[in-house]
Amino acid sequence: MTATGSKILSFGHYQPSRVLTNDDLAQMVDTNDEWIQSRVGIKERRIADGETVADMAGFAAEKALAASGLTAADIDLIIVATCSNADRSPNTACKVAAKLGIASPAAFDLNTACSGFSYALANADHAIRAGAARNAIVIGVEKLSEITDWTDRSTAVIFGDGAGAAVITLTTGDEEPGIGPVVWGSEPSEAIAINGWRPYIVQEGQKVFRWATTTVPGIALAACEKAGVLPADLGGFVPHQANLRIIEPVARKIGVNPDVVARDIVESGNTSAASIPLALSKMIERGEVKSGTPVLLVGFGGGLTYAGQVVRCP
Ligand code: UT7
Repeated sequence: MTATGSKILSFGHYQPSRVLTNDDLAQMVDTNDEWIQSRVGIKERRIADGETVADMAGFAAEKALAASGLTAADIDLIIVATCSNADRSPNTACKVAAKLGIASPAAFDLNTACSGFSYALANADHAIRAGAARNAIVIGVEKLSEITDWTDRSTAVIFGDGAGAAVITLTTGDEEPGIGPVVWGSEPSEAIAINGWRPYIVQEGQKVFRWATTTVPGIALAACEKAGVLPADLGGFVPHQANLRIIEPVARKIGVNPDVVARDIVESGNTSAASIPLALSKMIERGEVKSGTPVLLVGFGGGLTYAGQVVRCP
């Protein structure tokens, strides 16, 4: 049957068990809990303890697949969004396929840094609409601890590790598609970079902060408009978890109910491409977003790149 669009069946997430608190960081660099909480909103983050990017992606994908009602044999597309995978080949998507016993999916990684999950979701939706796939796993995963300079207090306090995954399937007939049109683009600059043979993340924090607080509300509103959804009717708002001082003003500017705003940054830090599926998967697990309600996703980051769309909560 011809696809009319696609929808999300399920989410899954994985976080390493090792917790790094602000007080732990104060032992490592010249910082303190008060500065981190008041400037960024983070209380703690998870740091991988031996897990690779592919391990974390596989654990999250396994959970999403188990909750989807599909089996490994049904999956014909895997897209992994990441900017911290150490190996150039094989890519993470092929490693996930091998771990989950998925026989011959189209499998590729995509790097748009912190907007990666929304880019990957759009690519899966477009592939399904074109008839090139029927059932996809889309993953956002990062091991930022490996590319963090632990002597640089301006970045060491911000980032964390983790993964989130979603299983996507086609919609047919009268069923309404559950993944809305994407709003995406870039504003090329050097404001965030991961450079060099032994790469470390560096960012011009204030420049990105100004860009995010002024530009992201327009992207969010455009995604709602394309989906035909009013911000006040959203059952969830899950922006990239970069800074609570970005998340809350953006939510206020677009007029979304503050009770439905994701604030996973508090306990997970900034996990780049993983932050959106990780936050939403945890909100769904806690029963904070009702099945069938519209949820606005907006990713932004390195590049600078951005992407957003409204999805129906599974
Ligand atoms: O995920 C991709 C997208 N990224 C973003 O959206 C990040 C956007 N930017 C931000 O969220 C914020 O700019 C940061 C959280 C990165 C930084 O916060 P800020 O309020 O912009 O701090 P700042 O860099 O302007 O630094 C203010 C002061 C400086 O001291 P002086 O020069 O005023 O004496 C810094 O040296 O805070 C100092 N500082 C710190 N102090 C204690 C910087 N980092 C720390 C620290 N602990 N960890």
